[in-house]
Amino acid sequence: LENSVGKTPQMGWNTWNKFACSINETLIKKSADQIVDLGLDKLGYKYVNIDDCWNAVERDSQGRMQADNQTFPSGMKAVGDYIHSKGLKFGIYSSAGNLTCQGRAGSLYHEDIDAQTWADWGVDYLKYDNCFNNDVPAIVRYPSMRDALLKTGRDIFYSICNWGYEDTYKWGPQTGNSWRTTMDIKDVWASIQYNFRYNDIHYDIAKPGAWNDPDMLEVGNGGLTLVQEKTHFALWAVAKSPLILGCDLDTVSKESFAIITNQEIIAINQDPLGVQGHCRVHCTYYDIIENRAQVYAGPLANGDVAAVIVNWAYTNLGEFTLNFVDVDIPENTPVLIRDLWAHQDLGVFTNNFTISHFDGYESFSYRLTPQKSFEQVFLQ
Ligand code: DGJ
Repeated sequence: LENSVGKTPQMGWNTWNKFACSINETLIKKSADQIVDLGLDKLGYKYVNIDDCWNAVERDSQGRMQADNQTFPSGMKAVGDYIHSKGLKFGIYSSAGNLTCQGRAGSLYHEDIDAQTWADWGVDYLKYDNCFNNDVPAIVRYPSMRDALLKTGRDIFYSICNWGYEDTYKWGPQTGNSWRTTMDIKDVWASIQYNFRYNDIHYDIAKPGAWNDPDMLEVGNGGLTLVQEKTHFALWAVAKSPLILGCDLDTVSKESFAIITNQEIIAINQDPLGVQGHCRVHCTYYDIIENRAQVYAGPLANGDVAAVIVNWAYTNLGEFTLNFVDVDIPENTPVLIRDLWAHQDLGVFTNNFTISHFDGYESFSYRLTPQKSFEQVFLQ
């Protein structure tokens, strides 16, 4: 969507994956405090996004949405003001239906008044869900909220949560800043793999301001091993997926925290070129069944290439050789390889690089820097 936001994938935190409907204004304020205290905002995590269950079932006497007065007694403007006072951005949620998925008031046929209400509260981000949609086609419901948001004149990131598919790839890029490509993520390995691979299908439509969204992060929620969490985070990064944390910032382990704060991985995700890394090697379902490692890669703004090599299976693979031509590096080009988890340069290699030991669920994340040949240097 050509508005002023989302030139790189959105980064932030959202209530749903960990807290679902058990949310209130204390939790939101505390989480905003933690984002700043832990330095997450400095790394790019700016959006504090309140998911389903913040609003009342009934609208007020003027037809406006209102906060659930049990859990958000101060009202949403006050919550937004608090978030802004910390230098963060305020995200809210609704559904393109009569009700939200959890039965609160939805925005179908109330697009203008709701968009204006949120703009008045200082909202910076809308996640727009798909429940109770009356079978009105997505292609009608989602552009109508886009237009309502644009009409407010406020810069609001528009995150389409159209898990119903309906060919979103055809209309997503001109409608939203991101669109869901999958059903809801779950905190299990099979779901990480399923969502990620599905999100790869229309990799070529992603661009600055318009991103494929395989759903929010499960890092730190306990259902994955640390090796799996690293792989989850690195894959989301290379595919230019939104990096929306979904864990409890109070209890997140040191090890999981180190994953979500890896600046070299985040830099791949936030690279200004905005090209979604996609599958290059062993990309079929058959390859997965046969336990072959896959390679996901894409170009970066400075001419480097980002590559994540993933072993989805629990089996140890022994060796794996990455051929540079498979990630668009011409033959005989010397390439400096940097390991983005070890934070180490591994050396300069030509044509290929062999990983000698590849554990189950493991991934390797590299930044490949093609070196100038002697002739190129000489001619400069
Ligand atoms: C479905 C969405 O996909 C989830 O991310 C979450 O927003 C829930 N609805 C909330 O009810």
